Amino acid sequence: MKEGISFDVYLVLGILVFFALMEIMVGHLKQSKRNKGEWFQEAGGFLALSLLIKPMIVMAVFFIGHSFFPHLQQTLSSWNLWFLLPFYLLIDDLLQYWYHRSGHEYEFLWKLHRSHHQAEQMGFFISYRNAGLYYVMMPNIWWLAIITFLGGGYAVAIGLVAKQLVIIGSHSTISWDKPLYKNKITALIMTIIERIIVTPAFHHGHHGQSKLDGISDPNGNFGNMFSIWDQLFGSAVFTRQFPTDYGLQVATNENWTASYFYPLVKSKDNKNILSKGFVKEKTSEFEPIQIELTQGQKYLWCQCGKSKTQPFCDGSHHGSKVKPVLFESKKTGKVSLCNCKGTKNPPYCDGSHKSLKKEFDMLFKSVD
Ligand code: FES
Repeated sequence: MKEGISFDVYLVLGILVFFALMEIMVGHLKQSKRNKGEWFQEAGGFLALSLLIKPMIVMAVFFIGHSFFPHLQQTLSSWNLWFLLPFYLLIDDLLQYWYHRSGHEYEFLWKLHRSHHQAEQMGFFISYRNAGLYYVMMPNIWWLAIITFLGGGYAVAIGLVAKQLVIIGSHSTISWDKPLYKNKITALIMTIIERIIVTPAFHHGHHGQSKLDGISDPNGNFGNMFSIWDQLFGSAVFTRQFPTDYGLQVATNENWTASYFYPLVKSKDNKNILSKGFVKEKTSEFEPIQIELTQGQKYLWCQCGKSKTQPFCDGSHHGSKVKPVLFESKKTGKVSLCNCKGTKNPPYCDGSHKSLKKEFDMLFKSVD
C-alpha cells in the first residue's frame, strides 16, 4: 500500500508539472492576473490536501476500521483489478458529482466552494482552490480511504491518477480538445469522448460567468471525471465552445485566509457572504418593475429575489436551488417584469403580486 500511495502522489505531481510547463510554454502563466493570495491559496490548498487532509482521513478510516471492523481489512484484495478499478472510480465520481452539485445548491457548502469560482482565469492549479473544510467533508476522499482499508489500494492509486489527469486537464488553459473539434473525423470521435469524460470545453462552461454568453452554465456541468452523471441527472450542456468571461458575475476580493479557513476565519467586509453574521436579504418587492429592453438582446431575470440589481440576476442565487431565467426580449421599449417572483409567466408580470401582497398583508396582520 505504501508503494501505491507514493506512486499516485508522484504521478499527480508529474501531471501538475506537465500542465504547468505547457502553460508556461504558451505564455499563459506570464499573462496570468492572479494575485499572490490566489497563488498561495492554490499551492497551499494542494499541499494541505496532499500532505495533511487526505493522510488524516486515511488514518481516521484505518483507526475506525482496525477498532471496529478488523475482519474486513483486505476483503477486496482478491478482487480482479479490472473489476475493482471501475467499481471504485464510478462510485467515487458519482459521490463527487452530488457533492459538487450540492456545493452550488446549498448555501453553507457554496461558501466553502465559492473561491474555486472566483478565479477569473482557468489554470492547472485551480482545482485545489476550495476551503479546507470542503475537502475534509468531501465524500469521495472518505470513499478512497475505505477502499484502501478494504485492500483496494492499487485500484485507488491508478484511479486517482487517471481522474486527476482528466480534472487538471479540464481546468487548465491548455485545452487539448479545442483543435479536435475542427477536423471532421476527430470531431466525430470527440462526440463519443465528451459523452464519457469531462473535456476542457465541458468544464470551462461551468466556470463561465453566466448563461448570457450562450456558452456558459455555472449551474450545469458538475461532473469531475465522467460527464455521464450530468447527462443522467439533467445538468449537461455541450457547446464545444469556451467562455470569454470566467468567475463570478460580481467580483469579490476577500482575503485568501477567509476563503480557505471559513468558517474559522471570516471576511472583514460585512457585505461579503463569508463575513460574520451576514444574512442574505430578499430584495424583491411586490410591485413589478418597468424597464426598458432592447429587441433581440438576452437578459437574465432574477428568480430568487436576492439580487441587488433587480429585476436582473447578479449571481446571488449561488448556494440555492433557484436559478435565473434567461430570456430574449421580443421588443424594444418598456416592459413590466415580475418582481414578486410569483409570476406564472416568467419573467413578465402576470398580476400575481396582487394576491401575494394580500396574503402577505394578512399574514403580517395575524402576526401583529
Ligand atoms: S440573483 Fe440570480 S436568480 Fe436571483
